[in-house]
Amino acid sequence: MSKERILVADDHDSLRRGIARALRETGHDVEEAENGNAAIEKLHNGQFDVVVCDLKMGGSDGLDVLRSAKALHSPTAVILMTAFGSVQTAVEAMRIGAFDYVQKPFEIEEMELKIDKALEVRRLKHEIDYLRHTQPDIYEFDRIVGASGALQQVLDIVRKVAKTNTTVLIRGETGTGKELIAAALHHNSLRANRNFVRVNCAALQENLLESELFGHEKGAFTGADRQRIGRFEQADSGSLFLDEVGDMSPNTQAKILRVLQEQEFERLGGTRTIGVDVRLLAATNRNLGEMVASGEFREDLFYRLNVMAVEMPPLRDRKEDITQLAETFMNRFSGELRKKVTGLDSAAEKLLQRYNWPGNIRELENAIERAVLLAEGDVITMDDLRLGELSPRVGGSDVVSVVKIPPTGIALEEIERQAVVEALTMSNWVQKDAAELLSITPRVMNYKIKTLRIELPRQRRPTAVSM
Ligand SMILES: Nc1ncnc2c1ncn2[C@@H]1O[C@H](COP(=O)(O)OP(=O)(O)OP(=O)(O)O)[C@@H](O)[C@H]1O
Ligand SMILES: [Mg+2]
Repeated sequence: MSKERILVADDHDSLRRGIARALRETGHDVEEAENGNAAIEKLHNGQFDVVVCDLKMGGSDGLDVLRSAKALHSPTAVILMTAFGSVQTAVEAMRIGAFDYVQKPFEIEEMELKIDKALEVRRLKHEIDYLRHTQPDIYEFDRIVGASGALQQVLDIVRKVAKTNTTVLIRGETGTGKELIAAALHHNSLRANRNFVRVNCAALQENLLESELFGHEKGAFTGADRQRIGRFEQADSGSLFLDEVGDMSPNTQAKILRVLQEQEFERLGGTRTIGVDVRLLAATNRNLGEMVASGEFREDLFYRLNVMAVEMPPLRDRKEDITQLAETFMNRFSGELRKKVTGLDSAAEKLLQRYNWPGNIRELENAIERAVLLAEGDVITMDDLRLGELSPRVGGSDVVSVVKIPPTGIALEEIERQAVVEALTMSNWVQKDAAELLSITPRVMNYKIKTLRIELPRQRRPTAVSM
């Protein structure tokens, strides 16, 4: 890590040298300026992380130095040193944008503390800028992989509503890309350069809920040793993403609804009412409509969230995206793990296609990461995928023993029955896929289901069945 650069400006020579020496001893890279003009010149010639500057100097004074630093739009933090009695000017300096001030005389430790704080704030700012500027391209639409009609339909809606302030409710099974879509909505909106703040509603603890959402003032409760800005306030002028919104207690639902209606709140222990302008995005893997019907989710909150609904298709319904996704992940992990893996063999590819993907894209992502790690050559094989852990191996010589015959014996029909049920479960009861798993035709599968009297789950039952 490079050393932090500090400029010390004071026309009082011995004081300036003393400060500079102390700061050098703590490991900083320090330059000195013997008056205001010299300080301004140095500011123009190089980047400093912090400027420590006397307020009163002949020629250009501390305020001039501060104004120059601001005019340069550099991220330099300015700390002013004031003589006793010039607090008024110090306040003025804070208004112009000084980071802090110290009153003379001071202990060098006090100055070091302020410098550390300034550096810390700078680091955080830098991090935020970094996140803002590097993240967006993750959410560019062309980074969202998949050409299937099902996904393109979703992206069409997203493109249409991204630039509006419409509330969007994203529904879909786990791992289908709900968060990715929420982030894409934000990063393609007019609010893109403001914050995208995610609140995991499932993890909200009721006793900390208000402090988390609305923030608190210092001393609001035992342990509140500093002020905290809540999620709503962080998201002001930006987007607030309520994730896992179906997992809130009734109490929490009521509180969230209140802010959404009023768009204002108070910090805990505070008296000022704070108004915010947030664009609301929400996601859930639950069926909120059903939850409303059963009384688990407030109807009024549901209507407030469900302005525009987006349904993320499960991966098994867009199998045509699997290969492209797998290749994207493979390239990414082979780069990240510095391992040359360039493709999948045909058996591996076939397995990806016939697998049911209950964990959707996240599961695929994890499977590929594992496979890249395990791959011995530069091609991923079926074994590397380890999907076989969940399903019996398919094909030739390496069929593992899947049948366990109890010593008391078992009817062959019972084994067959279990195999068919297992294949159906793995295929989400899609008979065609289950048939493929067992290397039989869909017709034979249908015949087995009837003769073995296998009961299909309610929603998969053909309507024409006579009872
Ligand atoms: N279309 C896609 N293209 C590329 N990566 C994707 C796509 N969809 C999802 N992903 C990746 O899959 C993973 C899971 O996506 P995400 O976290 O958005 O899912 P989720 O629906 O929010 O899941 P959960 O319900 O478990 O929170 C992430 O790493 C995401 O980047
Ligand atoms: Mg998620």
